[in-house]
Amino acid sequence: MTRLDAPATQRNREPILAILRRWFSAAADSALTPPISVLEIASGTGQHAVHFAQALPGLRWQPSDPDPSHLASIEAWRSAAPAANVAAPIRLDVRDVAWPIDRVDAVFNANMIHIAPWSAAEGLFAGAGRVLAGGGLLFLYGPFHVGGRPTAESNAAFDADLQRRNPEWGLRDRERVVALAASHALRLIEINEMPANNQLLVFQK
Ligand SMILES: C[S@@+](CC[C@H](N)C(=O)[O-])C[C@H]1O[C@@H](n2cnc3c(N)ncnc32)[C@H](O)[C@@H]1O
Repeated sequence: MTRLDAPATQRNREPILAILRRWFSAAADSALTPPISVLEIASGTGQHAVHFAQALPGLRWQPSDPDPSHLASIEAWRSAAPAANVAAPIRLDVRDVAWPIDRVDAVFNANMIHIAPWSAAEGLFAGAGRVLAGGGLLFLYGPFHVGGRPTAESNAAFDADLQRRNPEWGLRDRERVVALAASHALRLIEINEMPANNQLLVFQK
């Protein structure tokens, strides 16, 4: 099986992990009893899944993706770096009306909603709203426009490139994403500025 490599995951995984660690160590001390279940949407290569699960053994990490080659890569990374707390990947397209999982403590998604039509953002928040109980968390990582504008030259160039590749793709306005989240009872509770002009938004049901 082929382990796909997304070099960006090597660069962004430690900054993301620092935030997950802060949230999940606090959660482990609170009402949530480990293992804390995390559903990762659009796991891609599977590199994030393996890294975060190994670093945070109190979590039960459930990777997912709709793409068969990505599902194979996730499984290959999982076999190469066995971490008992990473489940076998499941096929999940956020736009599906029913997700193959009923309830999780948290949802994690990196770098999907700008590399997919807006319907993927709609599906992500609708589904997270269904599978999270009150108090559950949604972590959303990626680049966003703020106030209708790119936050950096590099993001403007990235947005233009995405739209050239597919007119339905492109960086999303953070305000529009926050409004969509609110329509599914998910409230923005934290904005983390991340390296390379990315952001990690935390929502709570
Ligand atoms: C740029 S990759 C990001 C992968 C990984 N999260 C990362 O940060 O490296 C985008 C991913 O979104 C997935 N994706 C695209 N449309 C999707 C949808 N409708 N539902 C779920 N995943 C989707 C793709 O299969 C791909 O794995």
